[in-house]
Amino acid sequence: MSYKPLSNEDDYPLDKDEGARTTPLEHFGSVDEDDELSDDTAKKVFVDEKDGGNGDHELSKSIGNVGPGFRIARYILTAMIFLTVAGLITGSIVLIITSPSCSPKLNWWQTSVIYQVYPQSFQDSGSGNTSGYGDLNGIRSRLDYLKDLGVEAIWLNPIYASPMVDNGYDVSDYRAINPRYGTMGDFHNLLSAVHQKNMRLLLDFVPNHTSDQHKWFQMCVANNSQHFCDYYVWRDSDSFGGPPNNWLSIFGGSAWTYVEAKDQYYLHQFYPEQPDLNYRNKNVKEEIKNILEYWLDMGIDGFRVDAVPFLLEDKEFRNESTNPDYNGTNPFDELIHNYTQNVLGVHAIVQEWRETVDCYSDSDDEKVFIGEVYSSVDTVMEYYGTKKDEFDFPFNFILIDTEAWNATAVREAIKEWWGALPKDAWSNWVLGNHDNPRIGTRVGLNLARALNMLLLTLPGTATSYYGDEIGMTNLEDLPVDGYDERDAERTPMQWNAEENAGFSNSTPWVPVVANYTTVNVEVQTNNNQSMLELYRMLVHLRKNEALKYARFNLLNTSENVIGYRRDKPDADNVAIVLINFANFAITEDISALEHVPKERKFRIAVSTWLNRTEIVDNAAVELGPFEGVVLLATL
Ligand code: NOJ
Repeated sequence: MSYKPLSNEDDYPLDKDEGARTTPLEHFGSVDEDDELSDDTAKKVFVDEKDGGNGDHELSKSIGNVGPGFRIARYILTAMIFLTVAGLITGSIVLIITSPSCSPKLNWWQTSVIYQVYPQSFQDSGSGNTSGYGDLNGIRSRLDYLKDLGVEAIWLNPIYASPMVDNGYDVSDYRAINPRYGTMGDFHNLLSAVHQKNMRLLLDFVPNHTSDQHKWFQMCVANNSQHFCDYYVWRDSDSFGGPPNNWLSIFGGSAWTYVEAKDQYYLHQFYPEQPDLNYRNKNVKEEIKNILEYWLDMGIDGFRVDAVPFLLEDKEFRNESTNPDYNGTNPFDELIHNYTQNVLGVHAIVQEWRETVDCYSDSDDEKVFIGEVYSSVDTVMEYYGTKKDEFDFPFNFILIDTEAWNATAVREAIKEWWGALPKDAWSNWVLGNHDNPRIGTRVGLNLARALNMLLLTLPGTATSYYGDEIGMTNLEDLPVDGYDERDAERTPMQWNAEENAGFSNSTPWVPVVANYTTVNVEVQTNNNQSMLELYRMLVHLRKNEALKYARFNLLNTSENVIGYRRDKPDADNVAIVLINFANFAITEDISALEHVPKERKFRIAVSTWLNRTEIVDNAAVELGPFEGVVLLATL
């Protein structure tokens, strides 16, 4: 894989989007050659053809032998060649001067914000078969809200039939809709309503494991079908009668569960109810490909692929070695997972899926393919594919992994990601999802406003977790029994101050967070300085040419401020973003900073407090505590 070399730590003059451009000059590649074609050259060509190029003596002899008519013809020919060449040169100069500068064409998934909807927590319409849970009709009823927000793509967490041991990541039928969420008819209605609004719908694809209730697993354990047993990973016990090796489940304990009827263990890298599929079996590959095609045929716009690094395991089932850096917090980290994650062969599987997805893409209707890969930054980058033949992007979790929320740490995280991004690869940013505490809880609501600005103005696709646009926070007192601790960040969407936050007429499956009376969509829609209003403005501002392309320079700002320049290739559109991570005011002098155009004035297009729009000189910019501003260069 060729990575972009890091030239200078503080300077990232990178045009990640420019690699594939052709210039008008390239279409006139022959002009230079013709330009060299002087009269002498013409003679030499003539000689070479006549006598094999035997030298000057032969040349004068040949010229001396031609008659006057022939000489005139030769002069006319030479003049014609000269005029043609001159015409070509003039033409190409005119073309270069007059042709519009061309920016790379961007796909919808590069310009859209992707909004993640956790189906059981978004809106209960009452039409699913279980009350208190969100459903597909509920999502459909809220499309106007999303459209108005400026969001153009929706990613749904799994909606397939499932016993819901892992909230849908344990699929029992990949081709059926979970009755809790509605029917296949409801899905079709949702998909066409999304498309009618010129939005896109992405599904979650869960290929690493099925539910233990899936018919394939049941055919194995209940019907003892060897054909279906081979769909999973079975091993004999070790010589002491224990699990085959020391592999661990990410959810705790051994990754192996014993089945008496088979007198063997099966592998599950997540819950025991989620047996891992065996990708060394070609039948499994074929089945999974057919499932991809099933949903693509239905017209969905792309997939988020779950648990990608786990798809294959070591062929020899070797023990994993202990982690010398283990800090004692999560037993899963006691081992180095080199035999269960990112094992040789995983990329080939992703490439095959990518080919399938590409068959459904055309330039007017691209499908998007996104991978969930929690690994080191360098390993994540490999999932772009050496030939851009894997994911359009693997999710960038660097801001999810950030623990120190100061400007220095965040700047370093941004640099690390941007510096490792392969040339021409499309970046992306994520602040929250259903597996991690909400950003509002991690950093507090003041900084969360500023981080929404960061998310929506860094170069690349932004993915937002539902409710982060209003600053929803985790449920602090999640009941212990019957809940996954991650359910604290999966609470009902807070629509209004009515009972159950407007989410459901029935008791919600998980309690609503108590702040819903003030932190909700209705209250914030009526407040023109709310976080929701900020979010909406930022999403709409992303349409500005300065913020669309993959161009980005970090500014050498003061310690507590992150600053960067965004601009359009070959154009005057420039935006400067400044974000103060401190809880005190700072005056940032940008006049001397590299990448800040000296001759321009700026207008504050958005401030995170939504209370200023003044023109600022490119000099001292006042920033309040935790304030971020997007400055747009005025003409
Ligand atoms: C990642 C999903 O995001 C998470 O919610 C799930 O538990 C695991 N994969 C297993 O599918």
